[in-house]
Amino acid sequence: MSFNAEKFIEEAKRYIKDTVGKEKAIIALSGGVDSFTAAALAAHATPNLFAIFVDTGLMRKGERAKVCEAAKKVDINLKVIDAGKKFLTSLRNVTDPEQKRKIIGELFIRIFEEEAKKDNVAYLIQGTIAPDWIESGGGTRDKIKSHHNVGGLPEKMHLKLCEPLREIYKHEVREVAKKLGLPDYIYSRQPFPGPALAVRIVGEITEEKIKILQDAGEIAEEEIESAAKRNEIELPWQYFAALLPTKAVGVRGDERAYQYIVVIRAVRSLDGMTANFSQIDWKVLQKISTRITNEIREVGRVVYDITNKPPGTIEFE
Ligand code: XMP
Repeated sequence: MSFNAEKFIEEAKRYIKDTVGKEKAIIALSGGVDSFTAAALAAHATPNLFAIFVDTGLMRKGERAKVCEAAKKVDINLKVIDAGKKFLTSLRNVTDPEQKRKIIGELFIRIFEEEAKKDNVAYLIQGTIAPDWIESGGGTRDKIKSHHNVGGLPEKMHLKLCEPLREIYKHEVREVAKKLGLPDYIYSRQPFPGPALAVRIVGEITEEKIKILQDAGEIAEEEIESAAKRNEIELPWQYFAALLPTKAVGVRGDERAYQYIVVIRAVRSLDGMTANFSQIDWKVLQKISTRITNEIREVGRVVYDITNKPPGTIEFE
């Protein structure tokens, strides 16, 4: 049966109304299509809504400003919480991907709880979608990874959860977002994971690595998007840069160099559950590689990931 966005919107609003009732709720706005859609649904369904954006310091370059601007455009009154230091300190020396995800999931909740306390808030509304809990080992399935908003949640939390998008998939969320009147730059945004660059920096996270990856990611996004605009390639479903924990030997000028390796990943997918790597034109990849190695002096090598999902996952951790 095909998905009926209009019917879904009515049911989701009723679900939020019945669940939250007259209590106050926080909506965790990450800037992605899922949380914006959940926020727009909640804004129609509950009168006491507080929208919060946690700046984890692990966001893409310029992301905070973009999210604030988008929220303003759709009349969402957004409170920004600066938590970069907190996240970096808690993640210092952590290399295990699952441990990273648990630390991030728990930190998000503790921050929401702190905010909730100030205003007697009872509910946390999240934009969790079906693949998040399926991959986190929901129902009878094996755990692939703990999505920060499901398997990464702490065992004990004081906020009750309300997840209106829990049963639907990304392409359906986009339909709902469009029907709700959200602007194109929100509903057509590529997916971005809640743990952000933490799952794209393989191994230990440092400030230096975050900065390198923000710069590399910006170049990758810019070049892929502009090639798609010129109709040279099809815009992939998701496209980004990741940073490996090892360095490799190269040459800079006449001298030996020992520098980081950036991986470019771009995939075609419908719902993120399976994916094929995008067959991006070599010219575009070459431009990305040249720009990254010219503009980021700590990077000496750029590689392209040609792994499908399965056996790979889309993110690196
Ligand atoms: P994987 O890496 O599991 O990713 O193949 C599938 C899709 O999910 C996104 N992703 C996440 N989204 N919280 C999220 O909100 C998470 O913890 C998380 N982990 C992965 C990923 O970007 C891709 O679109």
